[in-house]
Amino acid sequence: MKYASQKVAYWYFTCAMLLFVVQIFAGGLAGTVYVLPNVLADLLPFNIIRMIHTNALIVWLLMGFFGCAYYLVPEEAERDIESPLLAYVQLGLLMFGALAAVGGYTLRVHEGREFLEQPLWIKVAIVVVALIFLYNVSMTVLKGRKTAVTSVLLLGLWGIALFWLFAFYEPHNIAVDKLYWWYIVHLWVEGVWELVMASVLAFLMIKMTGVDREVIEKWLYSIVGLALFSGLLGTGHHYYWIGAPGYWQWVGSIFSSLEIAPFFAMVIFAFAMVWKGRRDHPNRAAMLWSIGCTIGAFFGAGIWGFLHTLSSVNYYSHGTQLTAAHGHLAFFGAYVMLNLALITYAMPYLRGRAPYNQALNIASFWLMTSAMTIMTFALTFAGVVQIQLQRVMGQSYMEVQDQLALFYWIRLGSGVLVAISVVMFLWSVFGPVREPKPATTSALQPAE
Ligand code: HEM
Ligand code: HEM
Ligand SMILES: [Fe+2]
Repeated sequence: MKYASQKVAYWYFTCAMLLFVVQIFAGGLAGTVYVLPNVLADLLPFNIIRMIHTNALIVWLLMGFFGCAYYLVPEEAERDIESPLLAYVQLGLLMFGALAAVGGYTLRVHEGREFLEQPLWIKVAIVVVALIFLYNVSMTVLKGRKTAVTSVLLLGLWGIALFWLFAFYEPHNIAVDKLYWWYIVHLWVEGVWELVMASVLAFLMIKMTGVDREVIEKWLYSIVGLALFSGLLGTGHHYYWIGAPGYWQWVGSIFSSLEIAPFFAMVIFAFAMVWKGRRDHPNRAAMLWSIGCTIGAFFGAGIWGFLHTLSSVNYYSHGTQLTAAHGHLAFFGAYVMLNLALITYAMPYLRGRAPYNQALNIASFWLMTSAMTIMTFALTFAGVVQIQLQRVMGQSYMEVQDQLALFYWIRLGSGVLVAISVVMFLWSVFGPVREPKPATTSALQPAE
């Protein structure tokens, strides 16, 4: 840790991991309700549990991004955060809002649109949090050294805030409503979040491989170009069946198919940098998460996205378990793994220790990725059976669900494994630290 104010990131990561636990716990409950439908039916119905699961996910991922920004911006800009105090105020507000939302959900206080169920006052609070944050990081960047990493990161973060504003626009016509709902949901994960992902990865590669900044920046700009070129019009893959004009069938199919490109480029980027890299970084666990993240994103978003993105396929697959399979692997592979990569990298510096408990961290990597893969396959098979029985043969929804029980049990089993791997991960980064070995202490100093 070069700058004292980077310590802010430690608390962002801590709060993010707390909500990660809430998310996984709610996921486990939701998975249980799928196989034992009467569990908690009166106390905490499925729709509420699901809301807690998805909302906790989104909030902790954002909190993680904020933490990433507060960690890496000082090192890139070569100065302390403009106002650490504001950063703590921002965290307090966000955490309060998140817990209030979860608490409110259990009391049935929520709105209707998926992922945007937060009551209005929390949506407003999120805007306040975003303004504080953008002011703080933008000033830090503007007054310091400007790098490609910080420019792209800022572009992504400003984009996130901008598209969030569509949460306040709720047209009465449900087709028009959906049109704008995707401005947030799609343009976040397949647009501006990708910019955050690419810039954080670039930072990790600069630090861990020792490859020249100029080389890494060229990759970064190419990835950003590919992401925006494909992702913006790629929104069309959600406009097939909601009453939008017919040309979206073509626009959506073509541009969203191209969305594989930036994810593929990130895989090649990570491997090429590690291959070229002169430096053998002691934090092998962070390296593994960084590379693994590009592969997870490529499969989850790229391959599993492409599976159902052509309008002729989506006609049959829309809103089935195949969608859930893709949703899980994409969010996990891209944004969960990205956060865990930076946390694994930064924690030893934030805690002032040599990279520690790597064996446990690496074990958690393999268990978590394997379990998420099993879950994805279980849901994919469930989806294929569902599409065949329900959409092709015309059986009723519930009749088909009865025949998918085996897949749902496997999903629950793999969910339990995910939960175990999360505990392992948390122990490896937050748990007691062994004495640093003298040989590795020098590796403590940030590279570059
Ligand atoms: C990391 C990036 C991505 C994430 C996190 C993600 C996540 C999701 C989620 C959660 C949904 C379900 C939304 C809902 O209806 O509630 C979804 C839908 C969809 N995604 Fe992605 N996605 C990503 C990238 C992609 C890419 C690159 C493609 C195409 C190549 C794609 C194609 C689709 C399609 C076609 C749907 C609609 C499925 C349906 O009609 O039911 N996604 N995505
Ligand atoms: C970090 C890992 C996880 C991520 C990123 C994640 C993400 C998501 C997302 C994005 C959705 C909405 C899906 C959609 O609309 O298509 C969802 C729903 C769900 N998730 Fe997870 N989840 C994770 C872990 C788990 C675990 C461990 C379980 C436990 C079995 C689980 C069970 C569920 C269930 C049952 C739903 C509701 C599906 C439905 O409505 O049909 N998730 N999750
Ligand atoms: Fe999309």
